[in-house]
Amino acid sequence: MSTHPQPTQSDRPDREPVTLPRLADMKANGQPIVMVTAYDFPSARVAEEAGVDIVLVGDTAAMVVLGYDATTPVGMDEMVTMASAVRRGLRTPLLIGDMPFGSYERSNEHAIENAQRFVREAGVAAVKLERGGPSVERARAIASSGIPVMGHVGLTPQSASALGGFKAQGKTLESAKQIAHDAHELQAAGCFAIVFEAVPAAVTEALMPHIHVPVIGIGAGLSTDGQVLVFHDLLGMTMGHSPKFVKRYAEIHERMVDGVRCYADDVRSRHFPDADHVYAVDQDAVAELRSYLDQGSLATAPWDW
Ligand code: KIV
Repeated sequence: MSTHPQPTQSDRPDREPVTLPRLADMKANGQPIVMVTAYDFPSARVAEEAGVDIVLVGDTAAMVVLGYDATTPVGMDEMVTMASAVRRGLRTPLLIGDMPFGSYERSNEHAIENAQRFVREAGVAAVKLERGGPSVERARAIASSGIPVMGHVGLTPQSASALGGFKAQGKTLESAKQIAHDAHELQAAGCFAIVFEAVPAAVTEALMPHIHVPVIGIGAGLSTDGQVLVFHDLLGMTMGHSPKFVKRYAEIHERMVDGVRCYADDVRSRHFPDADHVYAVDQDAVAELRSYLDQGSLATAPWDW
């Protein structure tokens, strides 16, 4: 059994829930928007207490939580389960569910059904989908059905193989123009915001005056209206190679290994549990129990009495 985490002082009960108009105002006022991913109740609590503006239940869950080497294997059921756990941990940030691979490509109807699942079963405020091209029509359909949509251009991990791997996009004129057109069409389709992933800073800077909805960058430089990082990346919970755009603000993986190692050492040396972690009982009751047992009372099972 574990204790249920309690809200803390830093929950800032005075903070208003973040809404789409609030994000538009932040863009208009040049106030940077902070977005982070989360996949479960504890990571949602951290995002809430840290005071971020947007929480994305990203399909990066496939990689950082489920251990796959791509985002494509995660499905709607898993995403909805994770999003509803995150919902329970949040009060103020805007919650967005990431439409996983295969959940929106087939038809507008299928895309709307899955977006509705996110809203109905997990209580998200909006969904995100990847790419321009055919996704533009899906974004328009979902937005017209009443569910706000965030677009995502540049490096779109669901189509990483078609893009030649997890590589920066927009490095050639052709590719930069493609990003410009994709972003422009997604904006025209009704997206309330767009993620730019792994786009050279100078290309983003050139595009920013043409995009009128908030742009959230990940590896896209400083000129965007906000930034997003994957929870596990920014806290140092991932191992091995990190993308160039990841800045690690903590080394939690090492701290967790140290913690579990200390626990294992304490168990093996019988230093845990100690006096602080056991329940007290009246000594007379224990003495009576011992004498009861010493009389061989267990020979007759209580249910035979
Ligand atoms: O799935 C995800 O985590 C994302 C962010 C990196 C934007 O799409």
